[in-house]
Amino acid sequence: MSAKSARTRVGIVGAGPSGLMLSHMLHLAGIDSVVIEQRSRAYIENRIRAGVLEHDVAELLRSTGLGARLNALGLPHEGTQLLFAGQPHRIDFAALTGKHVTVYGQHEVVRDLVAARLEAGGELVFGAEDVAVEGVQSGSPAITYTSAGVAHRLDCDVIAGCDGFHGICRPAMPAGHLKIFDRIYPFGWLGILADAAPSAEELIYANHENGFALLSMRSPTVSRMYLQCAPDEDVALWSDDRIWSELEVRLAHEGFALHTGKITQKSVTPMRSFVAEPMQCGRLFLVGDAAHIVPPTGAKGMNSAIGDVVVLSRALERFFAGRGSEGLEEYSKICLRRIWKTQRFSWWMTTMLHRMDHGDFDRRVQLAELDYVTGSVAGSTTLAENYVGLPLT
Ligand code: FAD
Ligand code: DHB
Repeated sequence: MSAKSARTRVGIVGAGPSGLMLSHMLHLAGIDSVVIEQRSRAYIENRIRAGVLEHDVAELLRSTGLGARLNALGLPHEGTQLLFAGQPHRIDFAALTGKHVTVYGQHEVVRDLVAARLEAGGELVFGAEDVAVEGVQSGSPAITYTSAGVAHRLDCDVIAGCDGFHGICRPAMPAGHLKIFDRIYPFGWLGILADAAPSAEELIYANHENGFALLSMRSPTVSRMYLQCAPDEDVALWSDDRIWSELEVRLAHEGFALHTGKITQKSVTPMRSFVAEPMQCGRLFLVGDAAHIVPPTGAKGMNSAIGDVVVLSRALERFFAGRGSEGLEEYSKICLRRIWKTQRFSWWMTTMLHRMDHGDFDRRVQLAELDYVTGSVAGSTTLAENYVGLPLT
């Protein structure tokens, strides 16, 4: 039996922040798209991941009509604390850059985007199986998939591979097309979500002899916290008591009291830096985690994905308005300039803040770097400027 056929201008694989935001921005520009997602709507709306929005990313969400819940629930943060040798040091983003970040969970961004797309009559296919792309080097690529047992074929002008690190779009590019740049770190993060009021007003990034710890939050009643652990750490070895006492040790400083509560989620994330170049093959464009991932220390993953979306949506707008394909041809080059700076920042934050086990000399250099970064206006400004986010284009 032949597949059920449909056509759209931009076929989007994946309904993470990048696929949904691309579909949303294309809609605002009058360009139709269809998003094909393998998971259910409930799954993607409850998947706990990143939590910090760069200044310009939050502004972009507002300027594209997604500000209502963000303004009500997002927590603006004008600075952060770096804790080392038992002493906290504040980096004042607002004073150093005039900008701030917003703590707002990725799953909230996903909920806002799904609601906006559905309200605008956008087509989102959830629970798609056997998703594949074909003809990417031709002028008429297609996405094929099965939905509710029925085979579908979606013919497109362009395909956006927004299907994350483990998706099918990057591997669909011909062998030898991509050059991969990769670094695997010998540690991971044990992340928890807890029904506990945040123990501090701002995030605390802690460098401790036992390993890195991060205090973050999702709301005035929910804490999000991380502990450096082995990349393949067995979560079962971490009882709630063990987690709280290790957080207590790593975050300890004068006047600090850890608020504890019911732990509602525990997971381990391995840490990796990865870039695939170029981010395009014919009519297939890779966006976000499908093309690059960072270790989470600089809170850059979701923000970088949105950065790619801005470049691609503008290039597609020009293309479909008949103003040429230069923007599409330049897509990879333009994105990669920002991506490599974000890679550098995430690698730098990771190596500066984690226990590296490189020996006593390196440990002293690490502490000297933290002392320099927190003690010098030039050093603090470098961190603040990157943390609040480099310009989006
Ligand atoms: P994704 O969010 O991965 O979205 C890809 C979508 O494609 C998913 O919905 C997936 O189900 C779908 N998909 C995959 N394969 C297929 C297929 N074959 N067919 C159809 N659909 C498909 N970043 C931070 O800054 N801080 C953090 O604390 C942090 N924690 C993280 C924890 C985890 C476990 C992970 C995996 C990532 C984390 N990140 C974090 C990174 C951040 O969440 C990502 O950078 C961000 O999600 C990238 O968005 P994306 O839309 O490009 O990809
Ligand atoms: C969060 C995650 C990060 O990677 C980070 O650097 C800051 C905050 C979070 O999940 O809240």
